[in-house]
Amino acid sequence: MTIYEIITKKKRNAELTADEINWVTAGYTSGSIPDHQMSALLMAICFSSLSERETSDLTMAMARSGDMLKPDTGGFNVDKHSTGGVGDKTTLICAPIAAACGVCVPKMSGRGLGHTGGTIDKLSAIPGFRTDLGYDEFIGNVRKAGLAISGQTGELVPADKKIYALRDATATVDSIPLICSSIMSKKLASGADGIVLDVKVGDGAFMKTISEAEKLAEMMVRVGNKAGRKCTAILTDMSKPLGKTVGNALEVIEAIEALKGNAPKDLHEVSAAIAAEMLFIAGKGSREECISMSEKAIADGSALERLREMIILQCGDPKVIENYELLPQAKVKREIFAEKSGYICGISCEETGIISAKLGAGRLSKEAAVDLSAGIVFDKTVGDHVEKGERIAVLHTSSDCDIESIAEEFGKVFHYGEKNDIPEEKNVIKTVKGY
Ligand code: URA
Repeated sequence: MTIYEIITKKKRNAELTADEINWVTAGYTSGSIPDHQMSALLMAICFSSLSERETSDLTMAMARSGDMLKPDTGGFNVDKHSTGGVGDKTTLICAPIAAACGVCVPKMSGRGLGHTGGTIDKLSAIPGFRTDLGYDEFIGNVRKAGLAISGQTGELVPADKKIYALRDATATVDSIPLICSSIMSKKLASGADGIVLDVKVGDGAFMKTISEAEKLAEMMVRVGNKAGRKCTAILTDMSKPLGKTVGNALEVIEAIEALKGNAPKDLHEVSAAIAAEMLFIAGKGSREECISMSEKAIADGSALERLREMIILQCGDPKVIENYELLPQAKVKREIFAEKSGYICGISCEETGIISAKLGAGRLSKEAAVDLSAGIVFDKTVGDHVEKGERIAVLHTSSDCDIESIAEEFGKVFHYGEKNDIPEEKNVIKTVKGY
């Protein structure tokens, strides 16, 4: 077997065997297959695709390239994954809800990159909060509070680290089987019994159309099920930013407010749907019962208490729950006013994420530092009527950016029109059921 033969086979759209996939994955991870040959294979996959069997074999080969964890929490472990979006703070809401309803949530999360945010950056905004827990401490915290959210521990899926970096540099990210194997290898290696996938659809997401998102969701669910994990996916809207805030400390505040029962409609619907799926795959009841349980955990304050416990166990200051001034505060706040009267019919989502990153809230390159106070607070959203000159948002930053040119750019993310131009609101688009 040679890498040359494997590239040729895939170029001709033939199926690779499990042995060939295992051999390539191990060879590239160890360094015996060089970048230029792996790049050629990845490009061939982008054009010829992979069958479901090949995708499943690649996912397992990647998962086994490092540690395969078995979280010993004493309960049913559920993980939740979002394919990435703008203003997506749902993990901070769903994980405490699921924990309050008796599900164990050992959640390893990542940092933000590009126009999308990451949960670890958001949690870093809480003074003292540790996101670098060792594995035993991580599991011990789940045993005590039902949840822990930390950065990756151990050597998890080294194959994905190398392959993802290469895909990023060779324009081979947007392949459904490659995205599926990248996401699912990490989920399977983390060892959860159940996995809920939130596949974002729209301008601010990887998947721009419902049919692409459906394909990815179905493939991930089948690969998860084949590996013996309970797995479901929901498709949720990312055609506009989720909720009213984008940015790390700002999103922590919005998540806490959501757990106090004050979420905007879109954030509430998406978070409740994900939390209910987490309960459902843990066998807590029917989907309808799980939605009621999630709502109750917010209404009776038990989910908020789980968040408080997690913050304490991870050395954060729990007083942030009552006093938002303890979170990083922006030095500059620039108000944005409506450029015309009418209905807001759209808010460009990817552009909002990029502007938020320019304010300092995200990373435009991997090594860049993040301004935890930076971001955007929307006063108005899609469907609202505004008068010219009315305040529609506030930009926050403490970094040394050109706020006036960013403000001018940001004015263009709002699209105005007539009442008839407002798109129908559908926050939770569809559930892709596995078992
Ligand atoms: N997120 C991942 O982890 N991998 C991908 O390929 C795309 C999104």
